[in-house]
Amino acid sequence: MTNRGNNSKITSLLLDWYGKEGRDLPWRETTDPYKIWISEIILQQTRVVQGRDYYFRFIEKFPNVKSLANAEEDEVLKLWQGLGYYTRARNVHAAAKQVMDSFNGIFPSAYSDIISLKGIGEYTAAAIASIAFNEPYAVVDGNVFRVVARLFGITLSIHSSEGKKMIKEIAQSLLNREDPGRYNQAVMDFGALICTPAQPKCMACVLQDHCMAFAGNRVGELPVNDRKISIRNRYFHYFHIQHNGNTFLQKRNGSDIWKNLFEFPLIETPEPADFTLLEKTEPFRQLFHGLSSISIDHRLAIRHQLTHQAIHTLFYRIIIPGNIPYNPPGEIFKIENEQLSEYPVSRLIHKYLEII
Ligand code: ADE
Repeated sequence: MTNRGNNSKITSLLLDWYGKEGRDLPWRETTDPYKIWISEIILQQTRVVQGRDYYFRFIEKFPNVKSLANAEEDEVLKLWQGLGYYTRARNVHAAAKQVMDSFNGIFPSAYSDIISLKGIGEYTAAAIASIAFNEPYAVVDGNVFRVVARLFGITLSIHSSEGKKMIKEIAQSLLNREDPGRYNQAVMDFGALICTPAQPKCMACVLQDHCMAFAGNRVGELPVNDRKISIRNRYFHYFHIQHNGNTFLQKRNGSDIWKNLFEFPLIETPEPADFTLLEKTEPFRQLFHGLSSISIDHRLAIRHQLTHQAIHTLFYRIIIPGNIPYNPPGEIFKIENEQLSEYPVSRLIHKYLEII
């Protein structure tokens, strides 16, 4: 059994639903590709409620490609602070420079040019091309996968190449050619509000009569996700050291997701470790060399969940008395306590600073 003959009916029901129930989002009032791009990047790993304020702040500070391209990376990261997945911020910054250098500062309108920009993949390119330029590209994100897999009863895994290919083809065949941008946003809203991963609102669903998963009582089983992601546990111990009104930071290099962000001196252990154990480690000795005793002023545990990692963190605030000299090792540098808020930090450290 297939649903394909029904496609235009499904499309028009979705558009009608969107007209009545679609969300009223600030970036829907513009056709400026720059603003649409920024909103789509923010929304990639962030919920709409949280993304909205970031979007406004970002657009206010960097209203166009040129202002973003001319910014310092630290400024861009600072504005992104708290959103997480900072690679997105570094990529939008790099892509803005690409637009200045390769496209004369004008955001490109062709899908093939849009997708050549740093950090823009198939999803974002389709969103910008359709919403800003009315180009007939269907977006395929997690919402679309779910909606299509349920409507068409697709039992192929969303991780298989056959499953992906089939969903993309169906999504493209559902696309409304007159208003592809509106249609794309309709499916995404529908997936976010009605055809949700857990407890979908089938009783309020305008597509109920067209849904193969509903007919077969398989809504809870679709889409098929056969990949178990393995979560890596990590154990971080951050030292918020204060000495004579100063705090100590280091810039994270390497190429992980926190690259170029600032953090407190960090010791990572392969297993959970308490303070007594930490004291015996070489990094601890180096960090506090020359000090005979360390007293903990405050200790806070925060667990931070990322897609593939659980970061179990202990923050130690250590106040070193002013009359004792302290010189941190290596790359660690000193700032005044009040300057801390000027430095871009990870979401994890941001959480800690909000609590203490
Ligand atoms: N999620 C990401 N982009 C979106 C958009 N433009 N509309 C609805 N949901 C989205």
